[in-house]
Amino acid sequence: MKFVYATRTGNVESLINKLNIREALKIELGQEKIEEDFLLFTYTDGYGDVPIEVEDFLSLNGQYLQGVIVSGDQNYGEAYCKAGDQISKEYNIPCLYKVENDGNDNDIRIITEIIQKYH
Ligand SMILES: Cc1cc2nc3c(=O)[nH]c(=O)nc-3n(C[C@H](O)[C@H](O)[C@H](O)COP(=O)(O)O)c2cc1C
Repeated sequence: MKFVYATRTGNVESLINKLNIREALKIELGQEKIEEDFLLFTYTDGYGDVPIEVEDFLSLNGQYLQGVIVSGDQNYGEAYCKAGDQISKEYNIPCLYKVENDGNDNDIRIITEIIQKYH
């Protein structure tokens, strides 16, 4: 299982580092190609929106997507982490976890357990 992530201000990258995930693929422009199953880590943009580079990446590689872990900020209220729900619906895969910013120790413990099941 590969890990793919998108980050703009660094929270998701920090999360990836705290999870000790090495060799994750970072989505930059969204034109990257992957040819194996992966879990996606993304942030939420706009008001509950999927970041544009993530949309582009998934339109190229979405057939390999197995699940999404989404970061957001509770201050966005109803739009909290909605990017994960949107991706889950569109690609028919589970939104595995919603995490605020780069996650606390408890989040890291839970996400570690979740991703272990995908090895
Ligand atoms: C312009 C902007 C819009 C955002 N919109 C949302 C949102 O609708 N829902 C949400 O939960 N978080 C929202 N966020 C918060 C980010 O998704 C959250 O801080 C995330 O951890 C950022 O990840 P990154 O630092 O890896 O880019 C927004 C942040 C910015 C700067």
